[in-house]
Order: sequence, then structure tokens, then C-alpha cells
Amino acid sequence: MSILLIVMEGLRMSEYHFEKAKKGTKNNTIKRQLRLITNHPVFIINLVYSFFIRLIYGLNIFKPLQLVVDWRSRFVRKPGSKVIIKGQFFVGGRYITNLSSSSANVLVYDGATLIINGRVKIGPGVQIVVARGGKLTLNDGTYVTADAKIFCSSNMEIGKKCAISWGTSIIDSDFHEIEYDGKQECKREITIGNNVWIGCNATILKGVTIDNDVVIAAGAVVNKNLPSNILAGGNPAKIIKENISWR
Ligand SMILES: CC(C)(COP(=O)(O)OP(=O)(O)OC[C@H]1O[C@@H](n2cnc3c(N)ncnc32)[C@H](O)[C@@H]1OP(=O)(O)O)[C@@H](O)C(=O)NCCC(=O)NCCS
Repeated sequence: MSILLIVMEGLRMSEYHFEKAKKGTKNNTIKRQLRLITNHPVFIINLVYSFFIRLIYGLNIFKPLQLVVDWRSRFVRKPGSKVIIKGQFFVGGRYITNLSSSSANVLVYDGATLIINGRVKIGPGVQIVVARGGKLTLNDGTYVTADAKIFCSSNMEIGKKCAISWGTSIIDSDFHEIEYDGKQECKREITIGNNVWIGCNATILKGVTIDNDVVIAAGAVVNKNLPSNILAGGNPAKIIKENISWR
């Protein structure tokens, strides 16, 4: 039992350092890449697991890095759905954060579309559901850290180089309907621009458009549109500072 625990811990640590080591790779030769991969057994397990996922769901089996799903995570594409990956999609690995030990889940229902443009990573515990009629587009350089939830039932686009922190919820539907005069639809599209940093445990609600270069403070509840280059926070979120930038 203890030997098994030691092996598991070794695998976990090697995986955590994988991305760091990869960043430090000055010369991107195939030989160096191969050495990195063989030094990190979890990555090999993930590649094998992902090969079968790509095979089952009709994705390109000759592009090993097109879809890499952590072996503890799930990627499910129901018949009648569309998954278009024009780049690389990393699901559930501890490459970006070690802050959760839960498995990630990506579920694309029939009549739903998931589009990945460029390189996108989602961390452990992240739940992404694209419901029937939903179209979710995630763009290059965006990452979602631990335990965030994205529920898409209409049109949702998240721009380039966005950082979505742990515990964040982005939901474009209320799931239930309430009635009153002037009530709008209970599901409406969400658009998040480029270079948006969403602090931990924030909630982005239906119908919201967030412009480029915005910071959302931890715990904010965003239910109205936000212009570019601002810091917003609170419940409901209000503009706290203008003319900001972040890196
Ligand atoms: C948004 C944030 C980065 C701002 O930090 P900062 O630039 O140092 O700002 P300050 O702490 O000086 O706060 C500036 C103002 O915003 C307000 N504010 C800060 N965080 C807030 C929050 N979460 N909710 C509401 N208001 C907040 C402050 O009260 C202050 O208001 P005031 O000017 O009226 O006094 C920081 O508060 C935050 O939320 N950090 C968490 C980031 C995170 O989730 N990281 C996860 C890993 S990516």
C-alpha cells in the first residue's frame, strides 16, 4: 500500500513540474521534447488515454497533442454534437495548478458545439457542460484553473489570454424560470473579451458582455456589461477602478 502511495506521489510531482520544465526548454528539438515526455510518466499515461478518446470521438488520432485528457478526467462527446479543435486542448491535468484533486469533466451534449481555437488549458476539477443548442468557443492562451464551472446553453465566447481562477462560475442560464412583467429570457449569451482576468469564486451571469483587458475581483457577481480596461468587483459587480491594465 505504502509503495503504491509513493508511486502515486512520484507521478503527481513529476506531472506538476512537467509544464515548468517545458517552459524552461530553450531548444525545442524533438529529442528534448521526447526526453521531457519520457521523464514524466503521467504525461505518457494521459497521451495513451487521450488517444482512445480521440479515436472514439472521431478526432484526429495522428495529432497527439490536439486533445490531452488527464487520465482521471472525463471528456464526453454525445452523438449529434460537434467538437472542433483548431489547436490544442488540455483537460484536467495538474499542469496549471495543484489546487484541486478532483477530476475535470467536459460534456458536450447532442446538438451542442464546442470550438477550441489555439491552445487552451483547463485544470483539475473544472466542469464544462455545453447543453443542447449551446455553442461554446474558447480562444488561444486562455486557461481555467481548479474547480471552475462553465455552463453553456446558448452562445458563449471566451476571448484570448483570459485567466479564469478557481471556483469561478460562468453560467448563461438560470435553469429555472420566474415570471414578472418585463422578464427577459432565462438564458442569454455571454461574451468575454481578450485578456480578462476573473478572480477566484467570481460568478458571471447570463447576458453579460465583458470587454477586453478587464479584471474581475474575487467573489464578484457580474450581471451587467463591463467596458474595457476596468477593475470591477462586489455583488452586483460595479466598476472600482478605470484605465487599468494587468499581466
Ligand atoms: C482585484 C484585486 C486583484 C485588486 O487588488 P488591488 O489592486 O491590490 O486592489 P486593492 O486591494 O487596493 O483594492 C482596490 C479597491 O477595490 C476594492 N476591492 C478589492 N477586492 C475586492 C473584492 N474582491 N470585492 C470588492 N471590492 C474589492 C477595495 O475595497 C478597494 O476599494 P477602495 O478603493 O474603495 O478602497 C484583488 O482584490 C483580488 O480580488 N485578488 C484576488 C485575485 C485572485 O482571485 N487570484 C486568483 C489566482 S489568478
